[in-house]
Amino acid sequence: MHDKIIVLDFGSQYTQLIARRVREAGVYSEIRPCTVGAEEIDALGPSGLILSGGPCSVYDEEGPALDPALLDLERPDGAPVPLLGICYGLQAMAHQFGGAVERADRREFGRAQLQLPPAGAEKSRLFDDVPSGSTVWMSHSDHLTDLPDGYEVIARTDNAPVAAVRDTDAPSYGVQFHPEVVHTDYGRQILENFAHEICGCSGDWTPASFVEEQTAAIRKRVGDRHVILGLSGGVDSSVAAALLQRALGEQLHCIFVNNGLLRKGEWAQVQETFRGHFEMDLRTADATDRFLERLDGVTDPEEKRTIVGNTFVEVFEEQTEAIAADLGHRPTYLAQGTLYPDLIESVSFKGPSVTIKTHHNVGGLPEELDFDLIEPFRELFKDEVREIGRLLDVPDQIVGRHPFPGPGLAIRILGRITRERLSLLREADAIFIEELRANDLYDEVWQAFAVLLPVQAVGVMGDERTYENVCALRAVTSVDGMTADWAHLPHDFLGHVSNRIVNEVPGINRMVYDVSSKPPATIEWE
Ligand code: XMP
Repeated sequence: MHDKIIVLDFGSQYTQLIARRVREAGVYSEIRPCTVGAEEIDALGPSGLILSGGPCSVYDEEGPALDPALLDLERPDGAPVPLLGICYGLQAMAHQFGGAVERADRREFGRAQLQLPPAGAEKSRLFDDVPSGSTVWMSHSDHLTDLPDGYEVIARTDNAPVAAVRDTDAPSYGVQFHPEVVHTDYGRQILENFAHEICGCSGDWTPASFVEEQTAAIRKRVGDRHVILGLSGGVDSSVAAALLQRALGEQLHCIFVNNGLLRKGEWAQVQETFRGHFEMDLRTADATDRFLERLDGVTDPEEKRTIVGNTFVEVFEEQTEAIAADLGHRPTYLAQGTLYPDLIESVSFKGPSVTIKTHHNVGGLPEELDFDLIEPFRELFKDEVREIGRLLDVPDQIVGRHPFPGPGLAIRILGRITRERLSLLREADAIFIEELRANDLYDEVWQAFAVLLPVQAVGVMGDERTYENVCALRAVTSVDGMTADWAHLPHDFLGHVSNRIVNEVPGINRMVYDVSSKPPATIEWE
């Protein structure tokens, strides 16, 4: 097994980035909530432990407590497990070891220049290849005013006399700034130094080794039992299917439901890929009629989501029953392509992270279904999953695809959903996507799609007055979908797409482009 560094989450919005940077340094990293005890972390056999930042103060009654035993973990050879506290993580460590943390007169937020090393201290290994004067990103209101015994300052900034510390007797370090964010110039180097120099990790972890390890782990866990997986045609479930197929072959059964809300050509393409190319046991259910009947007349976005979600579960259950009838028993496991950001946005299950959004039903299935879950990507980001997909030979068309919401086109037709409106939207959307690809713009944006508005507008075509639908184009740039900017697509391009849609899709006579960012708007219109 590879070296592993565990990140303890104290609720920082950047926790996921820490794990991500460590993996980029070639060391496997997983996140655990700060509420887990030392025993559970010890069982993971970490080579190092990073304590994340967080929104609380160490003096908050409600603030997350740190199991003191976590600071005394040992590696199998008896050496202490190295620690790196970041911002709140540093304060929690220092508080535990007898230092003093106080509220700063004013919050420090933004860029600062690192001064290395301060007079009298040697430059620390944490800052190997990090130049003095380089920029670091600060974001805190508490700070360290008194160091625990045995600690020394290894970096400062103009505003922070204690920007980084180390324990002179043990491999424990702390930084007040955020090395994980891109605004810290040498942040990557600092985390790499911690992982390689201080924790002694070899840096040989790659996505390919992840595939090997997961394949072996899944085989071991599943044995001769069977697994079902709901395929949506999106990146996450597709790559999960490919990985599970590699590990389990015929013990994997995929279910693909047509909810009548898919994009143009999607129903056929997914079947071709997974039944044709991967030769999987793919069960398909075309439940278009059932979905559309239940959505008839529904205009409220949340109601649409609930109907699509519940109906999906119903159809999925039926397909599972059919698989159980064929096998003579119910499959034991449910595999899902859940990613770490899905989880963090859905529930604050990992430590006290503030719940940002609840409308994303993770994987779309409720817990009552009573399966054991296999979620191989729950620690990963989408682009890491994409890389794994490429390794597993999942076609580029699927691996590089923009995110698509579970309720599909239902939340891109504002107001009532009808077959005619679905067909209009599909055609318009397909032209937009086709043109983005043809102009090498598809990969430049996080998500792009057409939205059908519930208004009609007057137009003129030839000598005829028209009174038809208005369609909006939406394209955004984003890193994680949590914040987004409207994509500044070239005007000529937008003009061309708009022309094509109005000319080729009878029923649409006017196009608009959405120039709202998130916040205050959201990416989807509903
Ligand atoms: P919003 O519109 O909230 O979208 O800015 C952020 C990201 O989430 C996707 N999204 C959903 N995904 N079920 C999903 O599976 C949903 O109900 C849902 N609503 C939004 C959206 O496409 C974007 O990528």
